[in-house]
Amino acid sequence: MPVTAFDRLACPLDGQPLTRQLHAWQCPQGHSFDIARQGYVHLLPVQQKRSKDPGDSKAMVAARQRFLNAGYYQCIADALNEAVLPEMASGAACLDAGCGEGYYLRQLGQAVPEGIDMQVIGLDVSKWAVLSAAKQDPAPSWVVGTNAHIPVPDSSLDRVLCVFGFPVYDEFARILGPAGRLVMVDPGPDHLRELRDIIYPTITERPAGARAVPESFQVVSRETVCETIVLEDASSIEDLLAMTPHLYRAPAEGLARAAELTRLQLTLDVRIQVLELTEQT
Ligand SMILES: C[S@@+](CC[C@H](N)C(=O)[O-])C[C@H]1O[C@@H](n2cnc3c(N)ncnc32)[C@H](O)[C@@H]1O
Ligand SMILES: [Zn+2]
Repeated sequence: MPVTAFDRLACPLDGQPLTRQLHAWQCPQGHSFDIARQGYVHLLPVQQKRSKDPGDSKAMVAARQRFLNAGYYQCIADALNEAVLPEMASGAACLDAGCGEGYYLRQLGQAVPEGIDMQVIGLDVSKWAVLSAAKQDPAPSWVVGTNAHIPVPDSSLDRVLCVFGFPVYDEFARILGPAGRLVMVDPGPDHLRELRDIIYPTITERPAGARAVPESFQVVSRETVCETIVLEDASSIEDLLAMTPHLYRAPAEGLARAAELTRLQLTLDVRIQVLELTEQT
């Protein structure tokens, strides 16, 4: 079993260790968090919620699940696996912060070499994303929670992934062990350029470099994934739009132009950065 659950969860209210009971996780202070029928646990207290239904909606999650499972972003998953797996010892623990419907963790699980065990946890603030992830792969731990207060103990992770996500560097630094690595995946300036050309009257240029890194981290490696893909039907184009913020940002005329399309050639331009903690003096 190369992928197992990460079970060192911490109470989101007081940081105490959680112990697994039959149908719930409990802390010594008596806080109890039910395990859903699908196996995930909700560790996002009301006071950490910034809206009633935070994170990606049910429709966005469903669109992303269809689009990613069709394989369009396989090259990104492959490059991510190559960034995450080197120098990873058996028993290492890996957390995906903002895991969405779990595509990249599923791909990572399939790439783990024979003889290596990896403890895996996917965390997302959207309950719809976590529900979808848990249904598709029961092996990892799946948690509804926020990157701002990740419910795991200090220094308990060997890898933290943040894929097209919302990094909270102080929190990532807290949960990573001294030799741990943070792997960031972010869009480059040309990512999905052809789609942006169609839906926006003028394109806002993205900065050409990779995302700036705070002083608490230093760069181990940087890589660009650049490929061309072709979406051959209107429903894939619709799913891609629905899984991105473009659907809410683009003007109605732009979305109408996109709705006419039945084929779309697209540039993928993605930056992968592997970071480690800076040694504090
Ligand atoms: C663009 S999606 C990327 C999902 C996934 N990493 C992928 O690439 O398929 C961003 C994800 O971050 C989640 N999210 C937003 N704010 C978050 C937060 N504060 N903590 C954890 N997840 C968050 C959203 O619900 C959504 O699933
Ligand atoms: Zn507690």
